[in-house]
Amino acid sequence: MTLKVLVTGGGGYIGSHMIKMLACNGHQVVTYDDLSTGFRDAISAGEFIYGSLLNLSQLKEVFTNNKFDAVIHFAGSIAVGESVLNPEKYYQNNVVGSLNLINTMKAHKVDKLVFSSTAAIFGNPEYVPIDELHPKNPINPYGVTKLFIEQVLADYDRAYNFRSVSLRYFNAAGADPDGSLGERHEPETHLIPLALRATNSGQLKVFGIDYPTHDGTCVRDYIHVLDLCRAHMLSLDYLISFGKSSVYNLGNGKGYSVNEIIKAIERVTSKKVMVQYCDRRDGDPPTLIADSKNIYLDLGWVPEFKKIDEIIEHAWNWERKSFEV
Ligand code: UFG
Repeated sequence: MTLKVLVTGGGGYIGSHMIKMLACNGHQVVTYDDLSTGFRDAISAGEFIYGSLLNLSQLKEVFTNNKFDAVIHFAGSIAVGESVLNPEKYYQNNVVGSLNLINTMKAHKVDKLVFSSTAAIFGNPEYVPIDELHPKNPINPYGVTKLFIEQVLADYDRAYNFRSVSLRYFNAAGADPDGSLGERHEPETHLIPLALRATNSGQLKVFGIDYPTHDGTCVRDYIHVLDLCRAHMLSLDYLISFGKSSVYNLGNGKGYSVNEIIKAIERVTSKKVMVQYCDRRDGDPPTLIADSKNIYLDLGWVPEFKKIDEIIEHAWNWERKSFEV
């Protein structure tokens, strides 16, 4: 069945891989993006509408002019450190913007949403791997805004039968293996692209070497962007076939410290990463590792790209091509 799907933030890192995958699966895609952080040339399929989720009248017009089967909502601000320094931006974009979208969907009787949530809702882990029932105590405004929308979705499900799947991403990484798409943020704040660039020029700042982890640097669970996108495809099919509202943690289930990522990058690129050790960055929990058993049990999702070297290799191919590293 061909679906008509609205993708907010389709010009972003994960969104751009998603619209390509949707189109390859025969779906009709409309991207809504204000290009504040996304890129027009990353939108490789479907229709593009330039617009912000804060522009309620434009959003209403989009829903009046289109009959969507479902929405995949990526648009939002995503940098943990920035959210500590500029929370207003996060409450505007992630809370007000998402509420505008959800309420417009409701008004137009579009009641199926796949929502980008995050591991940042958990805060400092009480145990790892982190399952869905783990206590939620976000330690940065970014995590607070995503948790708030998860709560909105739970309430709307109960009250209005508005159905959603929230996917709590751990650390998205890698790139389309065909080299056509990859991670692109301006400015870049994420570890893997910055460490890849530090094989060529400048230094990678390592934020904190005194964390309670095996080597003192933060541990994260890196999941390939295409594995993330496949989880969205499965969630979409599930909602269309009347699946109930759900929330899933999404990661590879294996943690790598910042130092281990640096070593992996040196292995893959055969180059040295230049490093500068710095103080901790505000808002960083020491360890985030996912327990993704539930999405496997319910939707049959398992990561295809399990090896960190393979994930880094795809990121490296993209970096080399795009940034002349
Ligand atoms: N790091 C450095 N130096 C850098 C950049 C990052 O040492 O220049 C460290 C960070 O302190 C952290 C780790 O590398 O310990 C990963 O940092 P990223 O910025 O790559 O990613 P985050 O873990 O901060 O956040 C990412 C997404 C969030 C998501 C989170 C979930 O950006 O949206 O993963 O785990 F919530």
